[in-house]
Amino acid sequence: MQLSTKHLLGIKDISREDISLILSTARQFKEVLQRPVKKVPSLREVTIVNLFYENSTRTRISFELAEKRLSADTINFSTSASSVSKGETLLDTVNNILSMKVDMVVMRHSASGAPHFLAKHIPAAIVNAGDGINEHPTQALLDAFSIEEKLGSLAGKKVALIGDIMHSRVALSNIHLLNKMGAEVMVAGPPTLIPKYIGEALNVKVEYDLKKALQWCDVANVLRIQLERQNQVLFSSLREYNLAYGVSRKMLDSLGKEIIIMHPGPINRGVEIDSDVADGHQSIILQQVENGVAVRMAVLYLLAGKRE
Ligand code: CP
Repeated sequence: MQLSTKHLLGIKDISREDISLILSTARQFKEVLQRPVKKVPSLREVTIVNLFYENSTRTRISFELAEKRLSADTINFSTSASSVSKGETLLDTVNNILSMKVDMVVMRHSASGAPHFLAKHIPAAIVNAGDGINEHPTQALLDAFSIEEKLGSLAGKKVALIGDIMHSRVALSNIHLLNKMGAEVMVAGPPTLIPKYIGEALNVKVEYDLKKALQWCDVANVLRIQLERQNQVLFSSLREYNLAYGVSRKMLDSLGKEIIIMHPGPINRGVEIDSDVADGHQSIILQQVENGVAVRMAVLYLLAGKRE
């Protein structure tokens, strides 16, 4: 089987069948990653550049590790050590890199739509590693993989995305993916951090009361307050945000049921989630990170098979 797409720009653009294929391929790669020798020769002929115009810990390391496990040749690019600081454009930078015979580009950028722009102008396969407030498709795929691992399937499961929905590319990719795979989706948080009309536009429930959201869901995916993307005051203080919307041990204990706690990272401990929840027995935060490598191996392997 093959993907229907040459690039992975967003979950919005791919089919339910594409998602199922990526997740089933990732399950095979997760088995490879349990072996003493964790490397396969699948991408021995492929060169990949990791083009990170915005900071990253998990995604950048996870892609690089996935590429190495697949035996690809990799190049890492970060803006601070490049000629971007001398005024070079995105397209010039990428065309210069491609002239050195690069096959695939993994890109993170603060501008929404930057990978879509590149895909229109260059022949290499593009993987979106997070673009502005638009999408973070491999995060949604690894979140889905992690939920399936815990609960068996996504269909019919109730997933609440909690926090700064307005500025979250993780939220948008998760909403598209969970809807396509038949899960029920709720967004919860302060009204100022939830876009108006999101309920009808994206087929999600909207809840402003954290406890009601936690009582409703099987899985709570807690999102970071994206202070770096906010140019106006959208809540009174981090302390007050924590009191109203921080997921605490006391609140989880009051639910009368066990839910799964997820977070894409980086975590703001004591703001959107308390430490004893992030590190507690219901949390699968580090399993998400672990699964990211297998999921990214699957994405790169399947896209490499689509190259002309
Ligand atoms: N989840 C995520 O994208 O983390 P990084 O910003 O560290 O890559």
